[in-house]
Amino acid sequence: MPLAIPQTPTIGAEIQGLDLRQKISAANVDWLIEQLVRFKVIFFRDQNIDAEAHLRFAREFGQLETHPVNPKENFPELLVLHHHADNPPSGTAVWHSDVTWRKSPSLGSILIARQVPTVGGDTLFADMEAAYAYLDEKTRHEVSELQAIHQFAPMRRHLIKSGANAERLAKFDSAYPPVLHPVVRTHPVSGRKSLYVNELFTVGIKDVPQDRARPLLTKLFATATRPEIQCRFRWQKHSIAFWDNRACQHYATADYYPHERLMERATIEGTPPY
Ligand code: SIN
Repeated sequence: MPLAIPQTPTIGAEIQGLDLRQKISAANVDWLIEQLVRFKVIFFRDQNIDAEAHLRFAREFGQLETHPVNPKENFPELLVLHHHADNPPSGTAVWHSDVTWRKSPSLGSILIARQVPTVGGDTLFADMEAAYAYLDEKTRHEVSELQAIHQFAPMRRHLIKSGANAERLAKFDSAYPPVLHPVVRTHPVSGRKSLYVNELFTVGIKDVPQDRARPLLTKLFATATRPEIQCRFRWQKHSIAFWDNRACQHYATADYYPHERLMERATIEGTPPY
């Protein structure tokens, strides 16, 4: 019988007693979904699985997405995050939930550590249901019906910086137009409300001028930084983190340069937030 060991009162649990090299039983898949929804992120240690087993495990929870950048060779559904002396850590050291620039952002991601620095490179997770609960009554009321604008903005900035011409940018904009999501979403399984804006991809609020939207978003983004709603995962080689992208945000600490950190992520398709 597997066990879930809570890491903090509201977010994070370490799962013990499962070997992900083997196919997981239907009962254990259901049990893992319960733990994921309850703890928002679940961790596994010492899972020396190959790419096939990683994908097989991820497919137990839904269809997989293909990310537009850095696919693993021969495994397009695995996103490679590889940082070292010639490629300093950067992009994911901002609080975010994954791919909120999609109309249907992912249900969750399963990230495995292939190489880790001796120290550093921890990932922080923040509970967005607790963040919602921390909002004062007036702010909760103010944001309850708002829709936020999300965009694949870091990629667009990267294209501009690397000299993309107008035609390339127009192509990008038509492939990745801005999308709207509620500022407060309801979890499709638990029915609980959570705050659903993030510093990496949320660029504005529909029908709210930027001079009012910006301070409001800055205040909402800051809730993720409260230590009371966070857990911090110290990676070891072959550790896995599986997060519920509908209920938490994460932040990959960029403190290990010039050492190497190599991670691979399988991402499970989600449904439009409501
Ligand atoms: C991510 O943001 O998906 C990656 C997190 C990490 O590398 O720890």
